[in-house]
Amino acid sequence: MFSGSSVVSQALSRRGSVLGIDDSSLARVLFQATVIHAGRADCGALARLSLEAAPVKGPTPFGSLAAERTAVARREVNSLLRLYREAHGAFQVDYRPTGEWWDSTVRGSFPHVVEAHYGGHFFGFQQARDIDWLQHRIGQVEDEPTRVVGRALLLATASTIVAAPGKQFAQPLNFLADPPTAFVGARLLSDRTRDVRATFASHLAQFRTLVRPRQWDGSRFDQRRLPDMPETPTGVDLVYADPPYTGDEYSRFYHVLNVLADGGLFKLTMVHGVPTKGRYPSARSQSPFCDRRLAPQAFRELARDVRKLDARFVLSYSAGKALGSRDRTVDLDLLRETCQAEFSTVTLFPLNHSYRPLQPKNRRAPSASEFLLVCSNRGDS
Ligand SMILES: C[S@@+](CC[C@H](N)C(=O)[O-])C[C@H]1O[C@@H](n2cnc3c(N)ncnc32)[C@H](O)[C@@H]1O
Repeated sequence: MFSGSSVVSQALSRRGSVLGIDDSSLARVLFQATVIHAGRADCGALARLSLEAAPVKGPTPFGSLAAERTAVARREVNSLLRLYREAHGAFQVDYRPTGEWWDSTVRGSFPHVVEAHYGGHFFGFQQARDIDWLQHRIGQVEDEPTRVVGRALLLATASTIVAAPGKQFAQPLNFLADPPTAFVGARLLSDRTRDVRATFASHLAQFRTLVRPRQWDGSRFDQRRLPDMPETPTGVDLVYADPPYTGDEYSRFYHVLNVLADGGLFKLTMVHGVPTKGRYPSARSQSPFCDRRLAPQAFRELARDVRKLDARFVLSYSAGKALGSRDRTVDLDLLRETCQAEFSTVTLFPLNHSYRPLQPKNRRAPSASEFLLVCSNRGDS
């Protein structure tokens, strides 16, 4: 449950069939690519796709590919910043959350979804066009494993090249500030220099090393918002849950990857008539596990439904609060009581890894710690 990057699911899939559950499309594609279809994709076909150049013609809705290319090649940060500020201004004025806007701006020889929404913003104009082209070509691949793995590689590529603090999508690098810091200018230039097709090819090389250890054909993924449970699966031995533990919604940090994973039409959230700085889509999942008022009940429902499966339950969570980090939505005592109401044995295992906030000023702060609650009604732990 809450399978995210699917790293845990990959490990569990070495022992048997895994049912992955997460409400994000990003998690769905990663699970399908690394657990269900690992070792089945035609990597040669994907390597050939990475050699194709995107068509040069077509709309560049809010900027100029040529001007960007020149500024990047000459390392002219100020020209680049001017270009992006103008593009951002035009976008704020011209964006309309209607099908008409989509038809006139996005459609062309192939859909320019990323270029129209995020060109000159999270990505450069050229990078966005290259992503759109790969997305378009991957969508035409008939073989499902190859198509799904291609999409996962594209998500990895987008996340490598994005010009945003921490490589997530809450907000782009602050290049709209006037004047931006030298750090922002340098980072922007280095991120904009990254080539989409080369990055895609390097992720493909990593993916080739992911060996499918054994054929467990029963693995599948269910995209849904917990604690709403899927049709009760039978013969479940272990339920591992890794929910979010702060008010930070994952959909805020990964929305562009979710949009890319889905492909197709979407609208942006508007505030006072303009899109938000992070250009969030309007349909963004909100999790009860990120809400202090809703999380206790959500955990009660989750524990109750897992108990009905007669499986061991391993819940990963965090306690303590590092300086500068967010409050935990539920505290350890409440979580333990919730599990004890459903399971006869509940054992706490502190993990010997921990983390500190990234900001240098908080380096001396006590580290937040992580733990596992292992619950069972089988007379073991
Ligand atoms: C802490 S991460 C899981 C990390 C995962 N163990 C890994 O190895 O990457 C939390 C995940 O929970 C998902 N999520 C948050 N609220 C959810 C909900 N109500 N239902 C289903 N998934 C949810 C998020 O999309 C995110 O992928």
